Parts: sequence; structure tokens; C-alpha cells
Amino acid sequence: MENLLNLAAEDTDRTDGILKVTGGAKYSAEYQIPGITYGVLVPSTIAKGKINSLDTKAAENAPGVIKVLSHLNVNNSVPRYAKDQALIIDRNINKVFYNDQILFAGQPIAMVIADTYERAVYAASLIKAVYQKAPHQTNLELNIANAVAPNPNAKDYVRNQIDAYKDAEVFIEAEYDQPNHIHNPMELGSIIAHWEGDGLTVYDKTQGVFSSQRHYASLYEIDSKKVRVIAPHVGGAFGMALHSWPYQDATVIAAKITNRPVKTMLTRIQMFTMVGYRPETKQFVGIGASKEGILQGITHKAWAVTSSFDNFTEGTVRPSQFMYKCPNVNTIYRLVKMDVSNPIWMRGPGEATGMYALECAMDELAYKLNMDPIELRLKNYAVINPENELPWSSKFLDECYEIGAKKIGWSNRNPKPASMKENGMLVGYGVGSGVFNAGRSSATARATLDETGKLTIQSAASDIGPGTGIMMKKVAMDSFQTEGKEVFVELGDTNLPPAPTQGGSNTTSTVGSAVYDACTALKEKMVQVYHQFIVTDGQQHAYENFTFKNGAIILGGKSTSYTDLIKKAGLKELTVTRESKAGNERQKYAFNSFAVHFVKLHIHPFTGMVKVVQVVSAVDAGKIISEKQARSQMIGGVVGGIGMALTEEGIYDHRFGVYANNNFADYHVPVHADIPPIDILFVNKPDPYINPIGAKGLGEVSIIGLAPAIANAVFHATGKRVRDLPITLDKIT
Ligand code: MOS
Repeated sequence: MENLLNLAAEDTDRTDGILKVTGGAKYSAEYQIPGITYGVLVPSTIAKGKINSLDTKAAENAPGVIKVLSHLNVNNSVPRYAKDQALIIDRNINKVFYNDQILFAGQPIAMVIADTYERAVYAASLIKAVYQKAPHQTNLELNIANAVAPNPNAKDYVRNQIDAYKDAEVFIEAEYDQPNHIHNPMELGSIIAHWEGDGLTVYDKTQGVFSSQRHYASLYEIDSKKVRVIAPHVGGAFGMALHSWPYQDATVIAAKITNRPVKTMLTRIQMFTMVGYRPETKQFVGIGASKEGILQGITHKAWAVTSSFDNFTEGTVRPSQFMYKCPNVNTIYRLVKMDVSNPIWMRGPGEATGMYALECAMDELAYKLNMDPIELRLKNYAVINPENELPWSSKFLDECYEIGAKKIGWSNRNPKPASMKENGMLVGYGVGSGVFNAGRSSATARATLDETGKLTIQSAASDIGPGTGIMMKKVAMDSFQTEGKEVFVELGDTNLPPAPTQGGSNTTSTVGSAVYDACTALKEKMVQVYHQFIVTDGQQHAYENFTFKNGAIILGGKSTSYTDLIKKAGLKELTVTRESKAGNERQKYAFNSFAVHFVKLHIHPFTGMVKVVQVVSAVDAGKIISEKQARSQMIGGVVGGIGMALTEEGIYDHRFGVYANNNFADYHVPVHADIPPIDILFVNKPDPYINPIGAKGLGEVSIIGLAPAIANAVFHATGKRVRDLPITLDKIT
């Protein structure tokens, strides 16, 4: 099974670690298929209008060109397109090459398929489009008046009195702005599509092989079983691969029309418009409290950018509804539809944006109350979820404040702004809290023990970076009390038992539970076999009386190796497959992961240059399954949070409706020099209700609350409130 991850690490290192750092891990664009051809996309250069004419002749006649696709020859060939006139096919995906309309700059208008990549690139340069331009809108500020509710049934949230904060003894009102953020994982969007008859094999950059499978099958209205999606390695995604995009559809269509395998890999520039982004958002927070700091009212409003053809929506204002104990809360969420490509979830989607505003506002209120910002949070600590009035399944946020504050040395902080200096630099300390849904959906895992004692764990989850393979392996290692040399993991393939899309901090909770249940079921089966072939006294021994350890099943001092067990039974292997999913505990408890991020930074008093010098992130994510990988993922989130706060910003040139900084030179992601020592503190207490393994998930809370911690630290260091991200030095000085 060449395509599958199948490497046993010696210890709790990632199952794919050595492969990844030695070039052995195959990403979707790296598969060698005989007769492969190369697809290169031509993006529109205008933001809105229509294609009056498209001259593809020169491209078609260029050397090595097999086909040029566009709306002129694709539309009728895709069965699904005929079904309805909507521009959208499945969630958030605009139909590629559907008609002559231009909806955003960078929209694919044609694709050249050639025998080499270089020839395809050259031919693509020969395509000439003549457009009829229409006036475009890309400026959020100028379009707020046209904002709409996310859908006709969407209701604004109101708990008791609207705008009650205005009646409080002390209140603040503030607006917070955040620009577009582009996911920009290292691995570019890439796909190989290969039709053989009416069967399709796709090597895909995807966070969910099954959602991709369903989508491609639906394009051609074929049975999903005819489509195999393979993605054992994904080089980062951050949300950009939560669903398929037009470039992927174009490739599947190209492979069908040409009857050749087609590979497409986006350029970095195309990554800015062809695979989504975190939408630019303007927020308003009004928050009021008594003089003693007891919250009276929170009003949180958000206006988020989306495309003209879709209503991408996220939970930006949700956390304000339950984060703090507060009698009066109202939230409003609006979409500003413009001539831009479609956004998609990114790194703590919604909540990262919303908690940026709420946690900055809490800091502003704390200063107005002359109160420590942690004290203000603890005074309004929600013991039960105020939105649904359910108890939390587990909540150790208070412990996060405590251990984090201690580690960063919060007590050394002089709360007075611009009062602390070190080595001539202004010193700022800031704090921000994070919260995210702790989900669990359904997944299936298979556990197979063979006659050599090898234990193989299979589930189709894709691993976009957090170390899902080692998580699965670790659950099996714990279940079988083994150091893991004989444990192998296979994932990222629709031929494996189904698992959900990797996203929303769900995988460990969901797939980990399936692995746990499959391992338990396998052990139960081993006990049955033991009774049939090993027990000689005719007695039935309870499952609980057996111990499984280091490759042996042990009963009352008698140890039988797994290989002996299987051989005595005359079998080649023992295998079980188990589906595992949430029960009705979701009706009884509120489930969330929590984090508190502490930041210490230096600011140069003259230039305003910000240097984060220490980050402490304390997290309550239930039981930590694999500490090394959990720590790495938290560090990744912190790095993303530093980018969100200080450097990352997608900038449009509104005159043309195009990105002005669509490359890594101008769109700044943090580099090593920007990253300080990072301490990750785990509460590491299992959640008793979420699932059998007690893990709540931490992918998203790793970033949520980090940007406000930095913004608050900037205020502490300088006395200046910067309310629009990123906090660049020009805004400080
Ligand atoms: Mo994550 S934004 O759910 O990939």
C-alpha cells in the first residue's frame, strides 16, 4: 500500500516526522502517474464584469498543449452544473468555468493543460481576455451600510435588555478592526485527478477525504464509491482545505475532458484568491459594569466581509454570549457582500476574531475600573454556561489564569501604562482568554492484530499537521500498554474507515475515541478467542480480569503472547471495526476548551518596534493525549496569534479590487526572529463527559485570545490603544 502512511516511530515522535523532514512524505502533487499532464490556471485581472471575448487560439497552438478549458467549452460537460442556475456548488464553492461572469479578481477564467508544466505556463500567458468591466466594491468601510443578515431566518441574540451596558456605572465602547488573513500554509493548493473509466482517483490537498469524495462524485453525479481520495500527508492548511475549491474542480473536469491524469498546483499568488481567507471584520463592543466590576451588559456587533455570491458565516460574536457571567447580552452579526473571493474558516475561525474584540474590551474596562484585568475576569467567571444554562462538562479556566499568571510573573507588573522599562525598552504585559467549542462527531476506526503481533490502526482522518497519526497511535499504545514499536497507523484515504474532516478542534476527540473503542473491542475479541483456544478449565473469566501489556494477554499470572494467541486460534489476524459517536451528553452539558494567553513584550520608545519576549499559554483541553504534539500545536497557534496581532494583513488596492501584497515578501508571516520562548502549560485534567478518552481538543484555542493579549500588552507598554490589526509600528508612534 504505497500510498498509505505506514511508519512505526520508536517512541512518541510523530508517526510521519522522519518522513516529513527527509522528503519521504509524499504530498498530493508529488505522486508519479504515467502520462501525467499539467494544468495551469489563468486568473481574471478585473474584479467585476464579464468576459466579452476569450482568445485561446495561440495557447491551443502552443507546443505541448492538450486542451484549453474555459466557460466556452466546460459548462455543458459537467452534469451537476445543469441542475440549477446557482453560482454555488456545494457549500462556498463557486462553479468554475460556469459562465462569462467575473465575480472577483483572481477568479479562474481558463485552464491550460499541457504535457509539461513549463509549456502550460507559457501557453497560459498567451490567453487574451477582453472584459466588460463593471464597478466593483472591495472596501468594507464604504459598504457597511449595505450589510445584510447571514440568512433570512437569522435572529440577533438578545439576553434580557439590549444595550444594557449604557446603564452601567462604568462602561466603554470601542471599535476593533481586523484585516483579511490568508492561510498561507507551506504546501500550496494541489491536486492530481485521474479518471480510469468512470472511476476517479484524486491525490488531494484536503482536510477531509470524504467531503472531497462526495463533492467530486456530485460534480459528475456518480456514486461516491467510484471516487477515491488520497491524502496521507498534508503540508498545513489552517482551514483553507476544509472544502474543495474551483481549482480542484477545474482539475477533475480537465482530467475528464482530456482523459489524461492532470496535476494542478497553485502559485503562491493564487493562494490569495483561490482558496479562501479569514474575512476582514469590523466589530463594536460596548461593555459595562458596576464600580465593583460586576458586568451589567455586553453588546457585541460584527460586520464581516463575504463574497457577492455566498454568505460565509462564522461564530464571531458567539463567545460574548457565554464567556462571562452577565445578565444582559446582545449580539449582532452582519455580512458585507463585496466583489471578492469567498472566505473560509481560518485558525480559530470566528472566535479568534470575536475574542480579539471582547478581550481587548475587557482590558479597556478593567483600566477604566482601575482593576486588574485578571481580577475583572475572575469576578465575572461563568460557572455555568449563561447562554444555554447548562453546566460545563469541565472548565478549568480559573486554573489557567492562576498558573499562567504565576509563570509570566504577572505580580511583577506595574499596571500603570508606560511605567515599566527594561534595557531602554518599554515593557508591556497583556492577557487574553480563549474559548472554543469542544466537539465530537462520529468516526470509525479499525484495529487489526496480525500473527506477527503487529497492531494496525486505521481511520480515514487526514492530518494537516497536528500529529493525528501519533495521536491515534498513542491511544492504541495506552490501550494496549505498549511502547508502540509494533503499532502502525494508516490514515488519509477514503479506502479506510470513515472519519470526519479535520477541523474545528474535533479530530482527537472524535477519531481518538473511535480508536479507543476499536482497541477495546479488539481486546474483548481477544478475550473470546482466549476462552476458545487457551483456557483449559472451561471457566468464563471476566474481561476485567485480563491484562494487556507489551504484546501479551495476561490472566492470573499466565502470559500468552498475541502471536501465540492468534496462531493457536489458527487465524491470520484478528480485526474489529467500530464506529464511535457522541451520545445525549450534548443535551446535558456545555462543552468548551479554554485557554489563557499571557504576553510580555518590549517596545522601542522611539521607533515603536514591538518585540514579543515571552508567551505563556495555559490551556484546559481535557486530557492531553500526546504531550509533545499538543505542545507543538499550541506553539503553532501562538505563532499564528503573533502574526494576527503584529504582521499579517491582506491589503487590497481598492482602485482595482486586487491584492497589493499577494506574496510572502509583502504579506508578513512571523519568522523565527519574531518568536520568543513559549511556555505551554496544560491543566491536563480529563473531561468526564465528552468521550471515553477525556480529550477536548486544542487546535483553535491555541490562537484564540493571543492577539488581544498582545494588543493589551501594547497598551500597557505605551498607554496607546491600537484597535486595528495588525499593530504595526506606525500605529504606535
Ligand atoms: Mo480549522 S480553521 O477548523 O481548519
